[in-house]
Amino acid sequence: MRVISLPASLGLGRELSELLRLPHEECQHKIFPDGESYLRINFNVSGDDFLLVQTMYPDQNRRLLELMMVAKTLKLRGARSVHALVPYLAYARQDREFLEGEVVSAKVVLKLLRYSGVDNLYVIDVHKPQILNEFDGNSVNIIAKRTFAQYLGKIGMNRSIVVAPDMGAKERAQSLAEALGARCLVIKKFRDRVTGEIRHELPEDVNVYGKDVVVIDDIISTGGTMSNIVSFLKGKGANRVLAIASHGLFIGNAVNRLKSAGADEIIVLDTVAKRFEGVTYLSVSKELADLLKPFLLR
Ligand code: R5P
Repeated sequence: MRVISLPASLGLGRELSELLRLPHEECQHKIFPDGESYLRINFNVSGDDFLLVQTMYPDQNRRLLELMMVAKTLKLRGARSVHALVPYLAYARQDREFLEGEVVSAKVVLKLLRYSGVDNLYVIDVHKPQILNEFDGNSVNIIAKRTFAQYLGKIGMNRSIVVAPDMGAKERAQSLAEALGARCLVIKKFRDRVTGEIRHELPEDVNVYGKDVVVIDDIISTGGTMSNIVSFLKGKGANRVLAIASHGLFIGNAVNRLKSAGADEIIVLDTVAKRFEGVTYLSVSKELADLLKPFLLR
């Protein structure tokens, strides 16, 4: 097994190869004047197994295509198997037809990856893990609960309440709460069908007054979802409120929006290739290496 870092994840690929003690390769890469990606595999491939590492944000379309092109070329050149670690899987949130005729991009992307020759796919905290059934190879959804739990323990948040912003986020919040030995609760969300206004409610037996709270979601994009929950919890008298997600895209003024809503700290994993001031980034490579070991070193 050899690790190949693709352009969006050069650092992570190298780190993983060191942690897993696997040889590391890089593709030759440049962008043509017209904006197209050029890639070249200038090492011998035949009969070997490969782990490609490429995240898909920013520049989702380019990163997806680069991954597909390299996977296909490896197979054409005789690779025995191609594994792909995609820390952030783009297009994952459109995982069903909300309106008739909508393109279910998550499905299409998964089919394309398989078609390109990816046999085993590893992603971090995909929006709805069930969508991975659309990938006709082996797939694993990784939740980096150890990375979060260790950091939260270090900053004295292990007695906090872990909050899921909605039912869809319950499993993730529960697994973090378990790792911390903390209590978990799911916020109820109501949408007024006439005004479209969103209202939140805590379960009846829960009081967050004076408590430290950790809100965990899969992704912070515009920061709208998270800011609403943070200000709701602050309004209920919560003490420290931490906004946590696996993926931080922070579109527009998301960071300021979260701070203004009262977030005491914003914490995400280093799954995307962009950094923002005022955000704490946790490196996920050690946990990834440990979780991937059984799949890669057989
Ligand atoms: C929604 O179901 C997701 O889990 C996230 O809560 C949402 O996509 C975050 O987006 P935004 O930051 O734009 O509210």
